[in-house]
Amino acid sequence: MVKMEINLSSIGMEKGRQYETIITTNNENGSKNAAPIGVICAGENKIINRIFKGSHTLENIIREREFTVNITHDAELFTVSTLGNLPQNYFNENVSLKCADAYFKCKVISLTEAIKQSDPIKKKGEAIVIKSEVTELIINNPVHAMNRGFGYVIESLANLTRFDLVNDSKKEEYIIRFKECYRVVLKVGNIDDIKAMNEIKKELMKKGYDL
Ligand SMILES: Cc1cc2nc3c(=O)[nH]c(=O)nc-3n(C[C@H](O)[C@H](O)[C@H](O)COP(=O)(O)O)c2cc1C
Repeated sequence: MVKMEINLSSIGMEKGRQYETIITTNNENGSKNAAPIGVICAGENKIINRIFKGSHTLENIIREREFTVNITHDAELFTVSTLGNLPQNYFNENVSLKCADAYFKCKVISLTEAIKQSDPIKKKGEAIVIKSEVTELIINNPVHAMNRGFGYVIESLANLTRFDLVNDSKKEEYIIRFKECYRVVLKVGNIDDIKAMNEIKKELMKKGYDL
């Protein structure tokens, strides 16, 4: 375990990009809670979350004004904490996850009611945007925070290689999937992911599709 000088770039986080993490908090009854939540890097030691009302995570953050962001690539951990409650023996006393490759502690700076127009979920007043300062960063293993961009690039490339081999209705399906992948990569991917998606877009346009 290494206690680091606080700079989110040391866990691969770039300003303006979104990463998938597991946020852990204290419940009011003294138990601990974990949920996958997106984290936007807003600088060396600042992050932004948008959390929908109704989650335990949001209630706990509003009450305690602090939380822990865990960095992991463990699919099971993401799944169990999405579909149910992570057992209490997964947590350290300080609320971080025992198997996190890294974690950082955050203190809330501001809470704002907000919606984002580009998002598929647009109902006003359903989410809270939380700006926080990172107060401590612990790295257990060298790790880059999980970013969804690269997976979408690979998925879009794989579909592109199959494009000329499939029938028209499958082609239409690939185009719809590409548009969604492109939307997400523009939102969360790094500069290389975005460049790659623009190259794939050009190839699909050469095939006569209006993207
Ligand atoms: C990869 C991933 C990212 C997620 N990001 C967010 C997010 O940024 N904001 C949010 O409100 N919910 C997000 N969710 C959904 C929450 O994890 C989900 O609503 C969860 O059940 C909340 O649990 P809780 O009630 O224990 O807080 C995400 C889910 C996944 C799988």
